[in-house]
Amino acid sequence: MPTKPRVLVTRRIPAVGLELIAPHCDADVWTDPLPPPDAVLRDRVRDCEGLISLLTDRVDEGLFAAAPKLKVVSNFAVGFNNVDTAAATRRGIRVGNTPGVLTEATADMAITLLFAAARRLGESTRDALEGRWKTWDPLGWLGHDLSGRTLGIVGMGRIGYSVARKLHAGWGMKVLYSDQVARPDVEKELQATKVDFDTLLRESDFLSVHTDLNPQTKGLFSRNQYAKMKPTAVFVNTARGPIVDQVALAAALRAKTIFAAGLDVTDPEPLPPDHELYRLPNCVVAPHIASATVHTRNEMARICAENLIAGLTGQPLPACVNPEVQSR
Ligand code: DGY
Repeated sequence: MPTKPRVLVTRRIPAVGLELIAPHCDADVWTDPLPPPDAVLRDRVRDCEGLISLLTDRVDEGLFAAAPKLKVVSNFAVGFNNVDTAAATRRGIRVGNTPGVLTEATADMAITLLFAAARRLGESTRDALEGRWKTWDPLGWLGHDLSGRTLGIVGMGRIGYSVARKLHAGWGMKVLYSDQVARPDVEKELQATKVDFDTLLRESDFLSVHTDLNPQTKGLFSRNQYAKMKPTAVFVNTARGPIVDQVALAAALRAKTIFAAGLDVTDPEPLPPDHELYRLPNCVVAPHIASATVHTRNEMARICAENLIAGLTGQPLPACVNPEVQSR
């Protein structure tokens, strides 16, 4: 009987994914709660034809050099900034991700953070817990309404569109967006307007980031950008931490240049517990949980498994980020 291809799975993923891959491969699952260190990862992947990686794993030239049999990297995330896709492509290794299935969960988290930051939920619950809730106060913990206000979306992709659709339909928000490409379909459906980035900063009451991390978006939000925003503006990032200059954000929150921020992603991750952003009353920080619903994580595991199996068997990956390799 021919031996099954070896694959490395760098963390426990939902059972649905592991059950799907089991008949096709001999899977080595890293069961520690923390990611394997780089050296261990390279060692464990040595004889593998497939890899299921997480956004916490650095999948780079060094790893590829250590794994000469590798055919496919299936990243358990829609984002793939942890994978050197150019190096993978050069080596003919296909890279898969998990688009689509986490759109709604991530959009819901962005909306949760918009509300939490706008309504001072972090600050007020902390005040209550720590004994500063003395009475019902007509002037206490006043926040801002979303209804009828202007929502700015940075990156009108799947997730940005979902946030805009929900907040336009449910809260009557006026939608502005900035993107490299125009979305006439979204403009028509949501009466949305594409504006330049500066206009978006100046006119948005609520601003939600949904662009990917790349050399152009790294540090996109820095001192100058916060300075252009309204003092009542609420800023939310559920995309990737390095898009935000955190020192500048903390300064803007401290000086009340903007009203509040909600972050599901930080740089680094985890953000150290003594970081200033946790202590600022007008900042809500969540530990990168936007896709953390049972249904969504099961679906991510399923797509991840399907990408892996396709890569091992020479089929087109259902979700491939370097399809130029696929067509070779
Ligand atoms: C992703 O998929 O890129 C998210 O950040 C984690 O689900």
